[in-house]
Amino acid sequence: MTVASAPGKVYLFGEHAVVYGEPAVPCAIERRARVTAEERGDGRLRVDADDLSLDGFTVTYSGGPEDRPDVDVPTGLVEAAMGYVSGAIEQAREAAAAPETGFDLTIESDIPLGAGLGSSAAVVVAAIDAATRELGVDLAPEEIADRAFRVEYEVQDGQAARADTFCSAMGGAVRVQDEDKRRLEGIPNLPFVVGYDGGAGDTGELVSGVRTLREEYGFAADTVSAIGDLVREGEAALEAGDVAEVGRLMDFNHGLLSALGVSSRSLDAMVWAARDADALGAKLTGAGGGGCIVALDETEGARTALRYTPGCEEAFRAELDREGVRAE
Ligand code: MEV
Repeated sequence: MTVASAPGKVYLFGEHAVVYGEPAVPCAIERRARVTAEERGDGRLRVDADDLSLDGFTVTYSGGPEDRPDVDVPTGLVEAAMGYVSGAIEQAREAAAAPETGFDLTIESDIPLGAGLGSSAAVVVAAIDAATRELGVDLAPEEIADRAFRVEYEVQDGQAARADTFCSAMGGAVRVQDEDKRRLEGIPNLPFVVGYDGGAGDTGELVSGVRTLREEYGFAADTVSAIGDLVREGEAALEAGDVAEVGRLMDFNHGLLSALGVSSRSLDAMVWAARDADALGAKLTGAGGGGCIVALDETEGARTALRYTPGCEEAFRAELDREGVRAE
């Protein structure tokens, strides 16, 4: 039996602009998905995933398209979850040159699902690591990231960003720009607080809204490149350990995202609640339209304020996690 875990993430800077070749800085957070893998002799896949918001979700199936799991929950949800899990297992089988191997998998996660915190990437990264190590093969985090990206790319019909899987596999703060991805070193502690409105925006719609604005208005295109400039300043502030400056730039980044039309009433309310409670900075994280904000605050102020903010369903501390995928 082999256990692996991998973290979720927030965007410190640069979402949306990253689609147009600007850099972005996602950061791993101390909220993890854990996968236990045990080889089984009959080539089948049994998945136990109580935490995937599928009540009592346990299925056994061959993993083939003709063999649909028989469970009493909405099929779309199961197919999406199984797409990630069986994609991860396919990658592990290929990496270990063991195409017929079956597994018992148990998935546990403390990353809210569908909240833009990279829960699916964390599950896929941890599943690839647990299943390959169960077969005696140790993959480098970069290779796990690459294989996990292929799974997300397939399940999400080519809409996946490399940021989530790379950040989850490597941990810490990373910089992504087109094909170029690397971990940032010497980063200070980042006391993140996450506020979640219980919803999620439609990433495809939000990305296409920004595309339309950018094509229509020169100043919207300038706003996207201003985010790129801001990310470069943010990187310098991070590497200089200047957390106050990182916070100021987060505030600025939220303003620019808001100008591009991807904030929402609840996201703005949470951002302002955190700022009023003296957070060093606060912004939406991910595609926007709903979902999560991230604030920087080492006191309990922002989290307490968020808990009393109408529209905020959950507020929690989730500091920067310097570790990516790891054996448990
Ligand atoms: C969504 O998590 C991040 C976006 O930048 C989209 C993407 O990078 O694919 C909005």
